[in-house]
Amino acid sequence: MAFEKEKENAAAAAIEFVEDGMTVGLGTGSTAKFFVEMLAEEIADGLMVKGVPTSEDTRRLAESLGVPLLPIEHVDRIHLTVDGADEVDGDAQLIKGGGAALLREKIIANASDLMVVIADPSKVVDVLGAFPLPVEVTPFGYTITAKKVFDALKAAGVIRPKIDVRTAGGSKPLVTDGGNYILDCQCGVIPDAPKAAALLSNVPGVVEHGLFIGMARTVIVGDEDGASVIEH
Ligand code: A5P
Repeated sequence: MAFEKEKENAAAAAIEFVEDGMTVGLGTGSTAKFFVEMLAEEIADGLMVKGVPTSEDTRRLAESLGVPLLPIEHVDRIHLTVDGADEVDGDAQLIKGGGAALLREKIIANASDLMVVIADPSKVVDVLGAFPLPVEVTPFGYTITAKKVFDALKAAGVIRPKIDVRTAGGSKPLVTDGGNYILDCQCGVIPDAPKAAALLSNVPGVVEHGLFIGMARTVIVGDEDGASVIEH
């Protein structure tokens, strides 16, 4: 795995944000995995926290490591969520969903007092869009929804969007934890991410999109020796 040390160091810096008694949103992906593993070690040493997983993958990981979990229906406050990102810009705007977990990730991040993003340096960009933007859509009518997503991205200033349905190995669409499909939208550059986010949210059939705007307040970028913590 590339940038392993950088991811690990970002996760280690995020552990500093965890306090006794917290309910903690547990992100999804290879960077968040380091965080969950380190949190499990702290719990083994006596830290009292409960986790809220953002995907079935993370649920399985956390359970296997003995991290106590709260069912989402029993959560009334999430103090902190620590999650990775596919891209992060200088305003802490994110693209997420490379691991197809964006819906639960966004519900949990949005319900959290603080979202901390952990990333390796390859995720940091000037302008979002090189990473294909994941958009989660209902299976019903998804080809029609894809055309409307194309129109929304064009209206947001994306020059030539190209949209593919994410597949699960073969030709069948990948099905998310929520039972939906993912449209991967190659944008190149998303010149106005808040506008794109608003337009995509208005498309019937779009369950959620991978633009996280105004959600992350702390971005931790790991390097080989440590990590930089950037507050927004
Ligand atoms: C999961 O759906 C994503 O949002 C991940 O958080 C994102 O893809 C980052 O994953 P890595 O840490 O594996 O790069």
